[in-house]
Amino acid sequence: KAQATWGGRFSKGPAELMLAFSESVSFDKRLAPYDIEVNKAHTAMLNHIGLLTKKELREIHKGLDTLSKQIAKGELEWKAEFEDVHMNIEQALTKITPAAAKMHTARSRNDQVATDVRLFFKDACGQVIAKLEALLGAILDIADQNQGVFIPGYTHLQRAQPVSVAHHLLAYVEMFGRDIKRFEEVLENANWCPLGAGAIAGTTLPIDREFTAKALGFVNSRGKAQVTPNSMDSVADRDLFLDFAHACSVAATHISRVAEDVIIWNSSEFGYVELPDAFCTGSSLMPQKKNPDSLEILRGKSGRIIGNEQALFVMVKGLPLTYNRDLQEDKPQVFDSFDQIMISLDVLAGTIEGMEFRIDKCSEAVSDPALLATDLADYLVERGVAFREAHHVVGALVALAEKLDCPLHEVPDEKAKGLHPEIGDDWVEVFDLQRAMKVREGIGMPGPKQIRKQLARWKKQLA
Ligand code: ARG
Repeated sequence: KAQATWGGRFSKGPAELMLAFSESVSFDKRLAPYDIEVNKAHTAMLNHIGLLTKKELREIHKGLDTLSKQIAKGELEWKAEFEDVHMNIEQALTKITPAAAKMHTARSRNDQVATDVRLFFKDACGQVIAKLEALLGAILDIADQNQGVFIPGYTHLQRAQPVSVAHHLLAYVEMFGRDIKRFEEVLENANWCPLGAGAIAGTTLPIDREFTAKALGFVNSRGKAQVTPNSMDSVADRDLFLDFAHACSVAATHISRVAEDVIIWNSSEFGYVELPDAFCTGSSLMPQKKNPDSLEILRGKSGRIIGNEQALFVMVKGLPLTYNRDLQEDKPQVFDSFDQIMISLDVLAGTIEGMEFRIDKCSEAVSDPALLATDLADYLVERGVAFREAHHVVGALVALAEKLDCPLHEVPDEKAKGLHPEIGDDWVEVFDLQRAMKVREGIGMPGPKQIRKQLARWKKQLA
């Protein structure tokens, strides 16, 4: 039998195989709440312009409410033969009221799905932003608690210069803070209503696009309706999918980098942190193991999320305008990126909240005076020595310490002083960690006052 909604010109329906292959309802049913909202706004507009009676509108809205409840309870039977969420809902409504036959007046599934997903993106961005804020709160808390704990900062994974744990954690705060901005931008771009674009070239019927846009909340800060300005762009564009997927990729990459840092800190060789049991797992063979699995999975998930973004780009890049059925494959990736980023943000927050710094191990690692070699060069610069020369002198001191097999600050005084006339009696004071921090109070540096300032700024911003 021919397909109920578009079967007019067909003598036969699609093959079973074609149905199974082409259906999207198994994954786009997730758009149902948005689709119902769009149906309500669209029919309200049809009534507003006189294409639907009050009575028909009432019946449609009542029917949609019934369906909405059924869907929420999982009672609506989704049928592959109706292809997608849009036609399933329309078909189910037809069983409730004959007025349903008028619902698709002056629209296409092309502008309908574009509108549904914009509502989804607005919602999704809001949810990811809330999770990012919660993660920031968790990171700020442990940064706050560990202002007095110092570790080596690394370049090339070689000990470079000392930093406070708070300073290291605040670096992530900046990264996740920019992620929030990225999602805010996606949200803003999603806030334009494509409904009314029809299949490609609008409609001959006297629709009121601003009416539907307003009803669906596509408005600017002054309450003015925002409708997309070109009907072909409205149904062909998938920028939002790419941008959302990208924002997820960047956030996932940040998550992955935090995860990697903490995995290193947690290794037996470093031992800077103790991870919460609740986010670790054991080995089925080796009884002594406590593995940082939550962090490893987070690192792995980033690959999956980046892959979703790639898949979308490859799909969209060669498509002629306007709608092509390829585009129904745009949804699994964004749904997956959304789900994975949401749970990843929770898991990272949970792992970090329960993480404890092992002060003994941290202070042992940071006590290496070589970390403050640069400070000694700066000391010489302050006494008028050119930086290149100062660098050289301190390099010679390092070599000397190596030869004498002692830490840098234990090189005998007269030997050190012999390296340069500007090395004074107080040269060893440079190797005091507290001093080293106190002299780093410029904006963005790890000095204790600066850290307190940055913590306060972020806490205020999040409040
Ligand atoms: N389920 C389809 C999608 O997500 C809706 C648009 C279908 N349009 C069409 N002309 N077959 O892309």
